[in-house]
Amino acid sequence: MEGNPLKPKVVISAKLRSKVREALKNLLNEIADIYVLNDWTNERSLQELKDAEALVPLHEEINEKLLSRMPKLRIVARFGVGYDRVDVEACTKRGIYVTHTPNVLSNAVAELTLALMLCLSRRIIEADRYVRTEWAKANRSTLPLREDLYGKTLGIIGLGRIGTEVARRAKAFGMRIVYYDKIRRRNAELELGVEYLSLDKLLRISDFVSLHVPLTPETASLIGERELEKMKKTAYLINTSRGRVIDEEALCRALEKHQIAGAGLDVFSEEPLPLDSPLIKMKNVVLTPHMATLTVETRSLMLHIVAEDVRRVLTGKAPLNPVPEQKDVISTRKGNE
Ligand code: DGY
Repeated sequence: MEGNPLKPKVVISAKLRSKVREALKNLLNEIADIYVLNDWTNERSLQELKDAEALVPLHEEINEKLLSRMPKLRIVARFGVGYDRVDVEACTKRGIYVTHTPNVLSNAVAELTLALMLCLSRRIIEADRYVRTEWAKANRSTLPLREDLYGKTLGIIGLGRIGTEVARRAKAFGMRIVYYDKIRRRNAELELGVEYLSLDKLLRISDFVSLHVPLTPETASLIGERELEKMKKTAYLINTSRGRVIDEEALCRALEKHQIAGAGLDVFSEEPLPLDSPLIKMKNVVLTPHMATLTVETRSLMLHIVAEDVRRVLTGKAPLNPVPEQKDVISTRKGNE
């Protein structure tokens, strides 16, 4: 497709919702030509990408192969906080900015985390089905008793922005909160009354374990067979971070054997979750389709951040939301401006 050669080309993911795509177009129209691309891997797409100056991926992989075909690229503005599918090192070497949307989505993710905990503890999905199919036929409720969150222990793995918001909400429910992180967060300990534990201890004592770490080589399969064995038989595992932080096969085995009570999962090692995944048939899991940031308010904040960083870079300024690995690079570049 021929665009306007006078305006820089911005390629955005077709996987973004149409309203988001439209809004991005409106926000950037004046300074850029916007292309929506579906498959980012085939030869035709590579042709489309070759003169792009900015990319807005959702979950598309941005790797060396792709980058080597885009000599004009100046920014990869990831629509989301996680950037595990972007080769940051390769971008940095080529002088390409990588940005993300870290500050605006913690509330939405924390809310879904609590929702999954409540769905599991009160078995809300099952109760909904019961009302639709059985309640009117039964002369008394046959549902088993549920569990309170109040008084239970929540183990948060990764007390960053999102983990902290989860802690705040869980505190309001009267839970005891413990955490494990590679960095000890003494300010949060004071502010929220959360307790630092080793990963092993956290797994042994928590009634709910919730994951809030990015996917990195260090955190891949952080929760595997050994870790699941340490958890209480009555405990639930919640994951709104990245699927591959859990060894999913080990989790399925643990759930099948009722080695833990259940799991609330928004993310999976393969997405969309294949219909033949053993998780699909399990009763002790609640599954959602990677939707933690999918709220009107959060998506609107995210798209403004993405648009602003693309605008800044295309007009010669440094972006406001570089990924942590590029913070130094950016301050050095600014110093040289
Ligand atoms: C994120 O922000 O990384 C979420 O997974 C949505 O993409």
